[in-house]
Amino acid sequence: AAQPPVAPGAPGPDAHVGYGKIILLGEHSVVYGHHAIAAPIGLSVRAEATRTTSSAEPVIADWSVDGSLREPIREDISHRVAALITGRLGVPAAGLRVEVFSDLPRASGLGASAAFAVAVIRAVASRFDLRLSDAEVSNLAFECERIVHGTPSGIDNTVATFGRPVLFRKTDAAGGHEIHDIVTPYPIPVAIGLSGVHALTSQTVSLVRTAWQKNPARYDSIFAQIDALVLAGVDALRHGDIAELGELMNINQGLLNALQVSSPEIEQLVAIARRAGALGAKLTGGGGGGAMIAIAEPGGTEPIIAAMRRAGFATYLTELR
Ligand code: MEV
Repeated sequence: AAQPPVAPGAPGPDAHVGYGKIILLGEHSVVYGHHAIAAPIGLSVRAEATRTTSSAEPVIADWSVDGSLREPIREDISHRVAALITGRLGVPAAGLRVEVFSDLPRASGLGASAAFAVAVIRAVASRFDLRLSDAEVSNLAFECERIVHGTPSGIDNTVATFGRPVLFRKTDAAGGHEIHDIVTPYPIPVAIGLSGVHALTSQTVSLVRTAWQKNPARYDSIFAQIDALVLAGVDALRHGDIAELGELMNINQGLLNALQVSSPEIEQLVAIARRAGALGAKLTGGGGGGAMIAIAEPGGTEPIIAAMRRAGFATYLTELR
């Protein structure tokens, strides 16, 4: 789609949101029906839809926060997603224009594609005065994620929609799942480091699948070990036991490395974070590059952020609450 030459500025009051996320414990094994814990971060995608009298194809105009076009989402994918959304909502696609504003880095394992789908669904539904429940939004975003990812577990669209920390388990391939709220006695600060290497979750998910198909017993046992870490993590979070949570994250990172979805840059960031006092550090999301997370006692995340920045990595500080 043709992009207009000038950015329209900040999203307006009609903007609708999809939340970015981190996976605290359990990525990849969650695709095989095991538990994972995910939480929203302060970065999100906002979308605003307008109807024009044009009979042209829908336009998705993609803007980053500073108003410059940066890594627009692949046109063929955004069009398939837009067609699916208008088709499922039963609204005309012609003449529809959706402005998308995102401060969420793409291809970094932070759930940008699910947040994009959720924001667009909410914006389009609202433009046509359709009232969708959060569950309906999430289910439709799951279908969009299938276009982008192939075999998503459903955790990304869930957090992108509900915007709160959850324990998630997929129960079938059609999007069936269980979710439970995660409660912590106080907010837990989380440092996010970006490896700067773009990685597509669809690719790492497919690498893990190929390895699992060759040797299901070997990989199922790794997935089961990760599941046990996740369930222990729920208790650690409930008690606000950051040291225990950190230990579980460190072991999870070892198992993600065993699944061969870590990367040299992620390992470097993990080492930097631990040296700077992190009690736990691991990749988050699909891996193969992308992002990592680190936790420390309250007040302990600043030195971690500073050390990662000194080494030239972009960082972001969020809070699990
Ligand atoms: C991506 O955020 C998490 C993965 O487990 C894929 C998925 O759950 O769909 C790698």
